[in-house]
Parts: sequence; structure tokens; C-alpha cells
Amino acid sequence: MSLDTVLGPVRLGSPLVAASGTVGSVVDFSRVVDFSVYGAAVAKSVSPEPWSGRPAPRMAPAGEGMLNGIGIQNPGIKAWGRQIGPLIADVPTRVWGSAVAHDPLGFAEVAAGLADAGVAAVEINLSCPNLTGKLFALDAEVAALAVAEVRGATELPIGAKLSPNAVDVVAVANAVAEAGADWVVLTNTVWGAGIDIATRQPKLSGVVGGYSGAPLKPIAMRCVWEVAQALPGLPIVGCGGVQTGSDVVEYLMAGASAVAIGTAHFAKPRIGRRIIGGLERFMAKEDVGSIAELVGAAQ
Ligand SMILES: Cc1cc2nc3c(=O)[nH]c(=O)nc-3n(C[C@H](O)[C@H](O)[C@H](O)COP(=O)(O)O)c2cc1C
Repeated sequence: MSLDTVLGPVRLGSPLVAASGTVGSVVDFSRVVDFSVYGAAVAKSVSPEPWSGRPAPRMAPAGEGMLNGIGIQNPGIKAWGRQIGPLIADVPTRVWGSAVAHDPLGFAEVAAGLADAGVAAVEINLSCPNLTGKLFALDAEVAALAVAEVRGATELPIGAKLSPNAVDVVAVANAVAEAGADWVVLTNTVWGAGIDIATRQPKLSGVVGGYSGAPLKPIAMRCVWEVAQALPGLPIVGCGGVQTGSDVVEYLMAGASAVAIGTAHFAKPRIGRRIIGGLERFMAKEDVGSIAELVGAAQ
């Protein structure tokens, strides 16, 4: 049985990816999270300048999932490259960087800095507001501009991370692929909000934040299904609510070639090993010899 999977120009030794923002810079979490079971681990998004993030409260439980409104606190690409770059080679999996910015040139600057720091690929976090306050990932044209700038700034493989809030996720996926993205990540968090009835205040200082965890799975799965149907040649990383090996199989069957794990790391930092065990048991029971046999099996 082989767990290898292919994502456009990249071959991974495992279909599991550690999702951005849930494993720190990867380097700092490598003592806690067992990265050897992941094909790749994505560092927290980095911006051109330092971002201080939003005030507390920035995270809150909500039903079976979690709300967060961190505001992408990060030290900026220059400090990130100095602090993290020299340590990337010691991580026992591929480290991918994640770029975020308020304008397309900012994305390109971060991507170039991530490449200089030694990451193996760049994920473009398009689920962040542009200069007009709208998420890049809601607008196919604006999302494509950001991806085109990154494509011009680095020869590394690039993935574009999209939002389940997009009205037409297929149109956005098509636009970023034409602009040079090697794969799409479906998806980032969905917008959500909650009220703490004891304090009569919103659960997050920014009121609206990203909702993640188990309840996100059917929403992200719908995006994977639609993009896989409409754009069969475009590789997909499924992301949202993964907790078990069966969840991974479901995303693969819907059309993803790799599957990212996020929120599950907060309760169980070593959950990747259990998830890969579940995937291997399913493959053995069903006599599946390769990940490719599962990719799009339900399509
Ligand atoms: C606390 C927190 C911080 C996050 N930060 C980032 C980030 O910096 N960049 C990014 O692309 N996604 C970020 N995400 C989104 C996750 O990478 C993932 O796409 C999302 O949480 C859905 O997957 P999950 O349900 O497995 O958590 C963050 C998620 C959480 C919960």
C-alpha cells in the first residue's frame, strides 16, 4: 500500500497536510506535533509588514466547532525569514509558507521572502480583506491578480487557498488556476459569530470571525465536489473539519488529492498519526493500493 499522492508538480509521501495557523510556524510546533506523518505542513500566514492581530478575545468554542478572529498576527516576512528560515531544514516534512497581504504586490513580496527562507511551496491565503475591505477569494478577478503577482515572483509550486463564502467558488478556482496556481485549497474558515450570554458581548472582539472544525466539513466538501466536477484537471487540497481517517477518505473520494487538518490539532496535537492509521486501515480493508484509486472515486 502506498500513501504517495500527486498535487500538480509536487509528489507527497502522505496525503495529510497540517493546515496554516494551527501548527504555528511549523518549526516551533515540531516538538509537539508529529510531522513525520504529514506530506507537508503549512506555516502561519505571513504579511509584508508585522501585523499585531486583533485584541482578545480571539478564539471561542461555538457548538461542535470553533470561532477565531486572530487577525493574522505575525512578525512580517523579513523577521520571519531571519527567525524561521534557518530552522526549516530540521522539520521532518516539507514546510510550505503562507502569504497574506492587502494588495497583489504585497503577496509577491511575501512569496519571494518565503522562497528565500527555504520553503518548498507557497500557499496564497486569499481569505483576507483586500484594500477595499473585501476578501480576495470572493472575487475571481482580484484573486487572480494576487496569484499572477506571486507566479511572477517565484518558481516554487503555489496553492491558492479559497473561501467557502465565495458565491461561485468554481469561478474563483478557475481564475486562480489560469493565473498560475498549481492547486487550490478548499477551504479556509467560513464566516461566523457568537454571543456570550453571560457577558452579553460578542464571543470575538472583531464580532465576525472564521468558523472551523467538524461543522465546516460538509460546507468545504461541497466546494471540493463542485470544483472537482467543473475543473477535473485542477488538483485540490480538501480542508475543513477533518478528525478521522474516514473524513480523509471522504475528501479524497469527492476529488481532493490531499487533505489538510486544522482545528483538530488544538485538542489533540498528535492526531495526525491516528488519522493516518484510520486511512491505512480503510485502505487495507477495501484492498486499496494507492491514494490515486480513491481520488474522485465518488465523481
Ligand atoms: C486559530 C486559527 C488560525 C488560523 N490561521 C490561519 C492562517 O494564518 N492562514 C490560513 O490560511 N488559514 C488559517 N486558518 C484556517 C485553517 O488553516 C483551516 O483552513 C480552517 O481552520 C479549516 O480547517 P479545520 O476545520 O480543520 O480547522 C486558521 C484557523 C484557525 C482555527
